Amino acid sequence: MTIVQINADSLAKAADILKSGDLVAFPTETVYGLGADATNDGAVQKIYQTKGRPSHNPLIVHVADNAMASRVANLTDMAQKLMAAFWPGPLALVLPHSTAKDAYSLSPTVTAGLKTIAIRCPAAVHARDLITQAGVPIAAPSANASGQTSPTNAIHVTKSLGDKAPALILAGGACDVGLESTIIDVSTETPRLLRHGVITKEQIEHVIGPITVPSIQNDVKPTAPGQLTKHYATKKSLRLNAVDVKDGEALLAFGSVTYMGSTLYGFAKNMPSHLFKNLSPEGDLTEAAVHLFDYMHALDHSDAQAIAVMAIPNEGIGVAINDRLTRAAVK
Ligand code: TXA
Ligand code: MG
Repeated sequence: MTIVQINADSLAKAADILKSGDLVAFPTETVYGLGADATNDGAVQKIYQTKGRPSHNPLIVHVADNAMASRVANLTDMAQKLMAAFWPGPLALVLPHSTAKDAYSLSPTVTAGLKTIAIRCPAAVHARDLITQAGVPIAAPSANASGQTSPTNAIHVTKSLGDKAPALILAGGACDVGLESTIIDVSTETPRLLRHGVITKEQIEHVIGPITVPSIQNDVKPTAPGQLTKHYATKKSLRLNAVDVKDGEALLAFGSVTYMGSTLYGFAKNMPSHLFKNLSPEGDLTEAAVHLFDYMHALDHSDAQAIAVMAIPNEGIGVAINDRLTRAAVK
């Protein structure tokens, strides 16, 4: 396994690996993806083996542009409105399969047999370059072992996948967004928000009118793992909405900690730096999203026994942050 900085050479090499039916990990603006040629069934199956992902959980297909998107899915009027507003960017659309004459023949494994398919055009330019050079749509879930926290830098990929990591990991620093894409199902009459992300329900409703948010169920065949209550798991337990720090706990803070107490250190601000991470001292939700998974990884690998997490306002991007924290807290 090698980690190589993204440049013209490494992109060309990665595209060749994808064309040959193997996997590559690469950065997008949301999280790092584990990519495979979506038209190659053997390659797509390698994704499931590498992640230990249940076969009933479908993948998002990444496209370089709208022309490629139309060869993967039928772009309904509603989809086109959303694409005009938010693409390229952190929004995945669930749509019927393409019936175009030049539609790609996709691996059936990608959609786990569903009549719909999730597509996304990433904002990260290098990710789009990689897809263009590979010349095929790229199936890419987050590049972590199934159920674990998503990677927002190349080291997270190696830590989560270990010796199952793909031969090549393209490194592009920390992801700009830090949370997985918002997923909206526009294949049904009333669109459904399947996963919260930095593109919020309100922003989407501004473009296409009212949408619904299905209630979370821990059923065996979810339409999105975002719908499983337990996901993004840390090894250590999380204590949410903490107003103090108990013995043995690390602290994931948000905003000011001036008055936060710590049993061991008097004040939280006196805690050793390896046990104390602040998502955004200024209380900025966009900044908090960028740091969330990195700090969850860091505190999870610390010598603390558990992690106390301060309250995050449940508005705007805070809804997606709280969604990830709540699921990670389920043990
Ligand atoms: O930000 C992202 O979307 C990242 C980066 C790499 O692009 N990818 C990602 O993929 O988060 P993954 O596999 O971790 O999440 C894919 C989600 C799952 O929740 C899956 O159930 C849902 O997409 N999904 C895929 N196809 C679907 C479909 N036809 N209907 C409903 N949900 C679908
Ligand atoms: Mg994932």
